[in-house]
Amino acid sequence: MRIGILGGTGPAGKALAARLAASGMEVVIGSRQRERAEEVATALVGRWEGRPLALEGAENAEAAAADLVVVATPWDGAAPTAASFASTLAGKVVVSMANALAKVGDELQPLVPPRGSVAAAVQQAAPAALVAGAFHHIPARGLANLDEPLDADVLVCSDSDEALVATIDLVNRVAGLRGVAAGSLSNAAAIEAFTAVLVNINITHRVHSSIRLTGLGEGRR
Ligand SMILES: NC(=O)c1ccc[n+]([C@@H]2O[C@H](COP(=O)([O-])OP(=O)(O)OC[C@H]3O[C@@H](n4cnc5c(N)ncnc54)[C@H](OP(=O)(O)O)[C@@H]3O)[C@@H](O)[C@H]2O)c1
Repeated sequence: MRIGILGGTGPAGKALAARLAASGMEVVIGSRQRERAEEVATALVGRWEGRPLALEGAENAEAAAADLVVVATPWDGAAPTAASFASTLAGKVVVSMANALAKVGDELQPLVPPRGSVAAAVQQAAPAALVAGAFHHIPARGLANLDEPLDADVLVCSDSDEALVATIDLVNRVAGLRGVAAGSLSNAAAIEAFTAVLVNINITHRVHSSIRLTGLGEGRR
């Protein structure tokens, strides 16, 4: 499967790109500037020399043409970016990983974006896309280090059953991650906002925490 990442040149997008490629997927790192994406892809392949990573850099338009598309821009760029590729994204699973956060004093606090969540705003911007929210709570730093094992749950929410199943499948292809169905897109607000809690825990305790749910049982999603 070919995965495109809009805004894939930032810490989150490139970390996800490396993990997905290391998990056997073809990944197109998208950017507003082709050269920037090409540099990032070349650097990742160089960093992980010896691992066959199917990574390439391209303009966002090419990433939007992939089979499944992830939106990894800052929160305020997510809906406008989705809107500009709305016709290409129609009928496709589009995964929003953006969190709307603002620095207030020493703390990051959650913002309420238009439509209540970034994922809902992306859905409105690309109405015919099958939008899911996922990967909000996975710190880029750990995700980027392919030598570091992962051990986390990824909450996945969507109004589309197809998007929910496809996104959980995507998550589960990455060793150490478990996709958990977490309801409709209206839950994206709570999932995105909770990222502020994790980031503050990470700052206070100087860690890179993510979440693992208890009580689900082995193999339950
Ligand atoms: N960092 C993490 O640990 C982490 C973890 C989970 C989720 N997230 C979420 O993932 C998203 C990306 O995080 P990040 O730290 O990688 O962000 P970032 O570095 O600030 O942005 C990612 C990329 O988005 C593009 N971009 C910047 N402003 C844009 C705009 N206004 N419109 C369209 N594209 C724009 C840039 O790429 P080009 O200039 O190449 O186009 C940039 O490299 C955020 O929404 C964040 O909340 C982050």
